[in-house]
Amino acid sequence: MPVTTQAPPVTSAGGLRIGQLELDNPIFIAPMAGITDRPFRDLARALGAGLTCTEMTAAAAVVRAPAEMVDRVIDLGAGEHPVAVQLVGCDPQMMADAAQICVERGADIVDVNLGCPVPKVVRLGSGAALAREIGATVRVLEAMVSAVPVPVTAKMRLGWDHISINAPQLCSALEGVGVAAVTIHGRTRAQRYTGFADWDQIARVKEAVRGIPVLGSGDVRDPQQVEGRIRQGVVDGVVIARGMMGDWHLLAQTVHQLKFGDPGPDPTFEERVQLARVHWNSVVAHHGEQRGVRLARKYVVWAIKGCSGAARLRARVADLNTQSDLDELYSEIVAAGEGPQGWQRPSFSSGEG
Ligand SMILES: Cc1cc2nc3c(=O)[nH]c(=O)nc-3n(C[C@H](O)[C@H](O)[C@H](O)COP(=O)(O)O)c2cc1C
Repeated sequence: MPVTTQAPPVTSAGGLRIGQLELDNPIFIAPMAGITDRPFRDLARALGAGLTCTEMTAAAAVVRAPAEMVDRVIDLGAGEHPVAVQLVGCDPQMMADAAQICVERGADIVDVNLGCPVPKVVRLGSGAALAREIGATVRVLEAMVSAVPVPVTAKMRLGWDHISINAPQLCSALEGVGVAAVTIHGRTRAQRYTGFADWDQIARVKEAVRGIPVLGSGDVRDPQQVEGRIRQGVVDGVVIARGMMGDWHLLAQTVHQLKFGDPGPDPTFEERVQLARVHWNSVVAHHGEQRGVRLARKYVVWAIKGCSGAARLRARVADLNTQSDLDELYSEIVAAGEGPQGWQRPSFSSGEG
């Protein structure tokens, strides 16, 4: 086994070092298309996320956008740090050019999506399709590493399917060209979002790399389990994805668990719904009332899950059009209170990662 020459990824204060960047803690928010926009990232950072990440953005859209439109495409806030911008694409020059633009606009890390399973992306040879070809992936990442002064990272699945698992070899090759950290979603492309993430396979990646941080993704819903996996050295950190849906406290509790060895008190029903409202109101403030309320509908549905009379409340969501509609439904949700079964974490079956 080669001896690592890098500083250890875990800092003395319990943070995580990615390249030259020191992050407060190794609990990150996963990139999620249609979800991790600026309001989502701002709240996640306020709740203690060590790093947030944009939704995946096509490198071509970044490079081809007129200068005055680039900020709309990437949408980083002034002073939004630390933040990673995730790019998807397969052309080395285009990816390098897009990475440079992201850094000019404030990205602290540029991440590459090597896991997206959706046909419109894999047909172009990007996302999970690019990860099948280790040589081609290395060329893309190498070009990006040479182009920007910030860490370049990659997020991938275990492999295309269960007979072509290549994440350990791929990550080792990427480390060799200067990729600063990797995130492994413990499912294959064939699995999409079904079944369970395989954390034994994620551990194989940690064994295969020499020293870069390895972050795990997949079914992260339990703060104690996260602490165990980090302490046992299965991974250096985790990214939370669907676990965040309707459960903002999962993030704060996982950060608390890692810092103090316990998740802190469970939130009450009212606290959960209040935090959901902080989020959906900031979505409206950021995107404007018309678009914002439309976008907020799915977040309201997440919050309703577990309410008493959830079906009746859910039926009202399609009619939400204004901020005052949202305020009214919020009051009804609070008045309805928690259902007899208690809070149910929503489960989702689709995504773009
Ligand atoms: C709605 C949705 C959108 C996603 N979008 C992205 C994305 O843009 N980039 C990415 O790398 N992964 C994306 N993913 C994958 C997640 O980042 C994560 O790896 C995956 O959901 C597994 O974690 P989970 O089982 O905890 O949800 C997405 C997932 C979902 C559910």
